[in-house]
Amino acid sequence: MTRIAFLTMDSLDNFVAYDQLVTEELQRHGVTVDEISWRQPNVAWSDYPLVVIRSPWDYQQAPHAFLDVLNRIEAAGTRLENPLSVCRWNYRKSYLQDLAAAGIRTIPTIWSDGVSEQILAQAAAQLQTPELIIKPLIGANADDTSRIPAAPAAEQLLELITTYTGKSVLIQPFLPRVLDPGEYSLIYFDRNYSHTILKTPAVGDFRVQEEHGSTITAITPPAIVQELAQQTVAALPADLLYARIDVLLMEDQQPAVIEVELIEPSLYLPFHDEAAARFCAAILRRMPDRIQGS
Ligand SMILES: Nc1ncnc2c1ncn2[C@@H]1O[C@H](COP(=O)(O)OP(=O)(O)O)[C@@H](O)[C@H]1O
Ligand SMILES: [Mg+2]
Repeated sequence: MTRIAFLTMDSLDNFVAYDQLVTEELQRHGVTVDEISWRQPNVAWSDYPLVVIRSPWDYQQAPHAFLDVLNRIEAAGTRLENPLSVCRWNYRKSYLQDLAAAGIRTIPTIWSDGVSEQILAQAAAQLQTPELIIKPLIGANADDTSRIPAAPAAEQLLELITTYTGKSVLIQPFLPRVLDPGEYSLIYFDRNYSHTILKTPAVGDFRVQEEHGSTITAITPPAIVQELAQQTVAALPADLLYARIDVLLMEDQQPAVIEVELIEPSLYLPFHDEAAARFCAAILRRMPDRIQGS
């Protein structure tokens, strides 16, 4: 029996994780999965030929400590998926600038250190939008993500200034199509397209995460969405076990990439019959030679 590790967090309470499906599939192929929190000290990573990053969904609270752990895993001679070099590129949303430079349509963004009345007014004028989104450069799970009017009232402004002081942020137009139809997530294994889900926020919310009460539906995406995701995958670093491309529609109905998730995306395995088997096969293909077929 070969033993690999899935990197997770101390407690997944209040999160929705689906990796049990691939764990069972791997078990059927003679591979046992140990789930290990990234915060667990003194792990003998060299005992594992492969570590797959799956659900360390609090890493944004201590991104440098998290990257140190990834570094230790690779330094132990263990194969990390996705690799540290990919995670280093992907953990700050500034990777969106690289994609835009490569000709990928991303959401127009103002990059700022903190916010002020003037910064927000300028951003709203430049982006020509009545409502703004502010979110941290390093973030996940919609933590510290704000939907605000272009000219917030004094009390809200003070709150925003406090929240984002000392933080690098993205300021974007709020795209109302996030409410209807929602946000598309296109999932790839080994750079091959697998499946798509549509996440629609709960009434009164704009955040599409299940943890915030959204609805998830399996869907065939519009061709323009699929084309953009395909173009995005083609522009990514070569070595990828999995990738999730998140797409929103803009006011002109054309799609734009909101995020590329290469570190710890939920892969929505139950939403396609083949998803867990495809993920399992991709993991088996990427096992270091010394254990393949053992
Ligand atoms: N420009 C935007 N327009 C509308 N909704 C947005 C926009 N940016 C973010 N959101 C909402 O906030 C959520 C979190 O933003 P996202 O960029 O996906 O960061 P993360 O998932 O890393 O927290 C999105 O899933 C979406 O619901
Ligand atoms: Mg997201």
